[in-house]
Amino acid sequence: MNRREWNLHADEFESDICDITVDETDNQLSRYVKAVKPSSDSVLVDLGCGLGSFIQKFGDRFHERVGIDFASRIIARAKERCAGRLNVTWHVMDIARASDVIRARADLTVCFNVITSPSPVKRNALWSCVKEVTKPHGFALVVVPSIESNSMVEKREGGGGRNGRRSPPGDGLVKREDSWQKHFSRRELMSIMSQRGFQVKRIGRAYYPWSTEGLRKPRSDNQRPWDWICLAQRA
Ligand SMILES: C[S@@+](CC[C@H](N)C(=O)[O-])C[C@H]1O[C@@H](n2cnc3c(N)ncnc32)[C@H](O)[C@@H]1O
Repeated sequence: MNRREWNLHADEFESDICDITVDETDNQLSRYVKAVKPSSDSVLVDLGCGLGSFIQKFGDRFHERVGIDFASRIIARAKERCAGRLNVTWHVMDIARASDVIRARADLTVCFNVITSPSPVKRNALWSCVKEVTKPHGFALVVVPSIESNSMVEKREGGGGRNGRRSPPGDGLVKREDSWQKHFSRRELMSIMSQRGFQVKRIGRAYYPWSTEGLRKPRSDNQRPWDWICLAQRA
C-alpha cells in the first residue's frame, strides 16, 4: 500500500490492521525486548510505527524514543495516544529517508510488518534502512508475515478463503484483502539479516488469533497463525 492508502486506514487501524504488539497472544515480544539491555542514553527507533503501540508498551525502557511513519494521519493518532505519557520524537517521513535524518543511532530499531512490498527493490531499500539507523552493536527487532503460517492457514481455508491465492508459487507473495504482500520463510529472514551484517540472536513465532485471519479457532488442534519475529545484533 502507498502512503495515501495507509492514511485511509488511519481511523480504522485497530480493526483493519494486525498490530502485533497488541494482537500477539503469548507475550513473546516482552521476552525479545528483555534480551536487549539498554544503556542510560539508549535510543529506540520504530520504523513504520503505526499507532505507536510498541513505543507505548516498551518505550520507557529507553532514554530517547523516535517514531517514524509516512502516513501523517496515522502519526497524528500515535501522537494522541502517547500524549502526556512519553516524550517521543515523531517524524512523518518515508523510512528511506530515516538514516539521513537520524543517522546510525538506534540501540534498538524495530520494524514490524512494514517490509512487505511485492517489489524486491523497495524491500531491499527498507532492509538497508534498518541497518543504517542501527548503531554498531545495536539491535534490530523485526516482525514479518510468515509464509509457513500462510500455508497452514490456506490449508485450513481449503484454498478459497480471505487470503486468496498465492502467485507465482515460491516467491512468497500473498494477496490479502486487495493488496499483494511479501511473506517470508524463517530461513529467508535469517539469510536477509545475515546479508545485511546482522547476527541473528533469536528467531521465533509471534502468534496471533485466528480472528485476525478472518477465521474461527479450529476445534481440532491447537495450531495458530503467526508472524516471524527476529532479534539480531549489528556487527
Ligand atoms: C502493517 S502497519 C504496521 C504498523 C506497526 N509497525 C505495527 O506493528 O502495528 C505498516 C505501517 O508502516 C507504514 N509504512 C509502510 N511503508 C512505509 C515507508 N516506506 N515509510 C514509512 N512508513 C511506512 C504504514 O503507514 C503503516 O503505518
